[in-house]
Amino acid sequence: MTRKLFTVGPVHVEEDTLRAMTRPMITHRCKEYKELHAGIVEKIRKALNTDMDVFLVGGSATVLLEAAIRNGVASKSLGITSGSFGNRSIELGTLNGKEVEKVQVPWGKAIRPEHIEGRVTGDTEAVHWVSNESSTGVFSDSVAVAKAVREQNPDALTMVDAVTSAFAMDIRVKDMDADSIVFGTQKALSLPPGLAVMLCSERLLEKAKQVPNRGFYMDLLKIKKQSDDNYALTTPPVSLMYGLDYQLDRMLEEGMQTRYRRHQEMADLVRNWADRKLAGMFPEEGHMSNSIGVLNRGPLDFDSFHSKLKSKGYEVSNGYGDVKEKTFRIGHMGDATPDGIRELLSVMDSVLEE
Ligand SMILES: Cc1ncc(COP(=O)(O)O)c(C=O)c1O
Repeated sequence: MTRKLFTVGPVHVEEDTLRAMTRPMITHRCKEYKELHAGIVEKIRKALNTDMDVFLVGGSATVLLEAAIRNGVASKSLGITSGSFGNRSIELGTLNGKEVEKVQVPWGKAIRPEHIEGRVTGDTEAVHWVSNESSTGVFSDSVAVAKAVREQNPDALTMVDAVTSAFAMDIRVKDMDADSIVFGTQKALSLPPGLAVMLCSERLLEKAKQVPNRGFYMDLLKIKKQSDDNYALTTPPVSLMYGLDYQLDRMLEEGMQTRYRRHQEMADLVRNWADRKLAGMFPEEGHMSNSIGVLNRGPLDFDSFHSKLKSKGYEVSNGYGDVKEKTFRIGHMGDATPDGIRELLSVMDSVLEE
């Protein structure tokens, strides 16, 4: 049975988007490819209001999260974590042989400048964190965090995982002035998984020149050289890029501010429902994500609730990491609509009544 996905990614992909991906194949070194690549880069810049380099790499978002650390850190970084994906970013550093100092923010709380006060030192080469922690449903103010990093060490690079915030919430790329901002296709772009995107600063590229062992696939300098010519470094997922081009047109037509408001409206519907019907939301008030609602289960038997929901054709997501057993998550991003969320919530009501 096919189910409508209100998951945290991959998310539901509309029929017209799937059709857009069935255009005839082209090779990745021809004129048509260059036009496709250049168009996508321009549209991403326009949607996110930035003139940073835009790198497109086949793989899930993690490939470019790892590339950022691998290219930008020779020996030492500071990793701020408030959940599973923050922990992952620290692991990406340590498994690549870097010394990563950890800043632990309580789960469910936002990352704030005071958490890193006195922690960014002269030998901190980079600071990395997650903009929208998908395990807790917390959206942190990355503009403020990036500023606090630079105030302590203007040479420290800032690396932001925007996997579940980009295109759902205004991450204010220009104000953030980060060195890498990474996301993938299977979240708020409402596409299948398989393409990672990085907004990359000149500072990170300069730093990469001094960092050894960048590998081949993840070498940002090699990627940049091809990207300047509107090529990918290795064979890109062309069909997915047709879909991305299509989705970016849809997004620009909707308008980014309208899109962000739609996400806010969907999030409000879910929060209101959680307060009325269950044990409220997990994250702290005032810092909740507009793309992922993390709801307290309270006494709800989630497994039984979810299997009934799935039998009615709807799927949400389990809790994740340390709060797996006490929460569950509803994805409301990309092409999801307030009407679609109302429909989901009314089916959830009927499951609760059963
Ligand atoms: C915040 C965050 N960061 C990183 C990832 C990993 O992304 P991917 O599976 O595309 O590599 C995810 C996936 O859910 C995520 O939610």
